[in-house]
Amino acid sequence: MKLLEIVTLTALYGAATAARTGDDRDLKADVWAKTLNKRQTTWSPPSNLVTPLQEVWDHVSTTYNNGDLLGFKNYGYDILMASNGTLNFCVRWDSDASVTEADRTAIESSLKTNVRKWTDQLTGFMGWPFDQVPVSVVGWAVKDKTQLQGSVSGIDVHTTADSAGIPECDPACGRFFHQDNDYSGCAGGVARHYDMSLWLTAGMEGGAGGDWGQRVGSEYFLSALDSPHIWLHEFGHTLALDDFYDWTPTGITNFIMNAGSSTTITDFDIWMMRDFWRHIASRFNLRKLKTRAVGKFD
Ligand SMILES: *[C@@H]1O[C@H](CO)[C@@H](O)[C@H](O)[C@H]1NC(C)=O
Ligand SMILES: [Zn+2]
Repeated sequence: MKLLEIVTLTALYGAATAARTGDDRDLKADVWAKTLNKRQTTWSPPSNLVTPLQEVWDHVSTTYNNGDLLGFKNYGYDILMASNGTLNFCVRWDSDASVTEADRTAIESSLKTNVRKWTDQLTGFMGWPFDQVPVSVVGWAVKDKTQLQGSVSGIDVHTTADSAGIPECDPACGRFFHQDNDYSGCAGGVARHYDMSLWLTAGMEGGAGGDWGQRVGSEYFLSALDSPHIWLHEFGHTLALDDFYDWTPTGITNFIMNAGSSTTITDFDIWMMRDFWRHIASRFNLRKLKTRAVGKFD
């Protein structure tokens, strides 16, 4: 490892006598398009993140699930492995308002974009088996079908509700309720199952997130489609990341999992996710999963 570092440094600085204005490969469009080439493949966090990452891991691994953090089997990683690298969402429309077809399309499009802000940072990293994570909205749960304006082709419309009477997509189709992956009770079978819920509640200003999905305000989500930072934080919880209301890691103050301190996912957030994957990866048969991964992406 040490030897490799020295060789790399010599290659970088050995010819540094001539003035340079940057590598002329910067000019080629494809180096900017192919982020895959730049992806992190090994555990080598920047030196200023090493201590705070260790603090976070020490904290979460001793605090949750009675000190058996990895005894819990439905983290976002488990969900993605069970779904062969795709994510099907069902939207719980917890509102009396109507929702247009255009807004539904925009919500699905936002999920496609914003899931990638996390999962693209796992591509190529320490055996992560998927090159991309295709996202679909397969269903909507509403109080009354007439709330869904325009065409509903391509989605399942649910009028089921949870015990509090809030619209909830049919539990028979939901991963949270069927962690054995038996969707035989779901009308559309496994093809129409959903991996998590996007729960949109009228008037809600905060959020919640976990293995069941993410909950944020319906008006908020529609007003923040390009980068819904509260949702990005809640999806971090789906990926097993913790909150930082009571403490912050040494030297790190602004990051999406520290609510209110950042509206974007930072390097520290990404390395926390990679750290979790690093610890949980041995649970899965990664080679088998890679062959099942869905290649299509839109
Ligand atoms: C994942 O792939 C396996 C094997 O092909 C299949 O049995 C299973 O139904 C798939 N899961 C989903 C959610 O599509
Ligand atoms: Zn939180």
